Amino acid sequence: MTDRVVLAYSGGLDTSVCIGWISELTGAEVIAVAVDVGQSGDDMNVIRERALACGAVEAEVADARDEFANEYCAPALKANALYMDEYPLVSSLSRPVIVKHLVAAARKHNATIVGHGCTGKGNDQVRFEVGVSALAPDLTSIAPVRDYDMTRDKAIEFAEANNLPIDVNKKSPYSLDQNVWGQAIETGFLEDIWNSPIEDIYSYTQDPTIQREPDEVTITFDKGLPVAIDGRKVTMLQAIEELNERAGLHGVGRIDMVEDRLVGIKAREVYEAPGAITLLTARAQLANVTVERELARYARGVSQRWSELVYDGQWFSPLRRALDGFNDEVNETVSGDVRVVLEGGRAVVTGRKSDESLYDFGLATYDTGDTFDQSLAKGFIDLWGLPTKIAAERDQRVGRPLD
Ligand code: ARG
Repeated sequence: MTDRVVLAYSGGLDTSVCIGWISELTGAEVIAVAVDVGQSGDDMNVIRERALACGAVEAEVADARDEFANEYCAPALKANALYMDEYPLVSSLSRPVIVKHLVAAARKHNATIVGHGCTGKGNDQVRFEVGVSALAPDLTSIAPVRDYDMTRDKAIEFAEANNLPIDVNKKSPYSLDQNVWGQAIETGFLEDIWNSPIEDIYSYTQDPTIQREPDEVTITFDKGLPVAIDGRKVTMLQAIEELNERAGLHGVGRIDMVEDRLVGIKAREVYEAPGAITLLTARAQLANVTVERELARYARGVSQRWSELVYDGQWFSPLRRALDGFNDEVNETVSGDVRVVLEGGRAVVTGRKSDESLYDFGLATYDTGDTFDQSLAKGFIDLWGLPTKIAAERDQRVGRPLD
């Protein structure tokens, strides 16, 4: 029986060429699978037709937008996930949901190999292949761009020689990856890390320096997740989409960073994630009001670990699942309203309200109505500072310099 390969298909030049390339190299039949995670661009049916025109024996499209929002973006929000304190894991989160659909298609079509169009220099190859191993250890992977040295020139040549229905001139000079949680922009002139990003590269956000009326939005959270915007009920997907529009208009969520890739390279990455950054900012501020101090402090370390794990392609790991259990517990009290002002590239929280609030006006106030017994502070400081004091007295006694 002929081997069958399920290929992660985007509709772009590289993966379109991969279809014919894989068939020629391996003699296998290719089944193209395009997963809609909220990327813009061509209609999914157009992409499906294109895959068939490029020689796929079957082509499937999967609408995974709600699944991606509910099962991948939502845990990331609850984890306050920001790799290197900045990157909301846009691409890292989409790979596992794509892998799930690839593996399901492989089972359905009796394929034994999963293919993708990643190069050998990035994180995504790891996320795809480790993901496949986690869900289907019997399947193997193929990556023509990496394993058979498919350069851009060769891809264009192949597309032209085989009359593939792709406009090779339409290919962006950047490597883009989009989904509803944001967009990643790499390569091209950005590889000189002294070059400023130009306005042209952005598509989720408008120029934040353009003067606009600020937009004030109230987001209602239930256990760490958005459930209403300005009093209107929303799903997770709708919340991200609406905030992508509203915060995007004010240039919120642009990130320009040099990032530590899993394969050891430092790489310049530009991201836009207006909805994600607004939600992360708002949820974190609400958590500051409702999560008990020691739990909140511990959660910061978990957040970092969670982000590194997911960045490193370990979505389907027992540790991620266990940390999600912890994050669910942390978010148990993260319910209430957050008022956010979107303006000049920033999402600024200006108000918070919660039935779970630990904020006690009486304890915090410097005005009349103070219920905090300030006389207790003195004894507290004496005891808190006692070990320091004893050690300092000893050091003085033996003549060790104090500082
Ligand atoms: N560096 C980011 C990450 O590893 C973005 C990768 C984007 N992928 C792409 N094909 N442009 O998550």
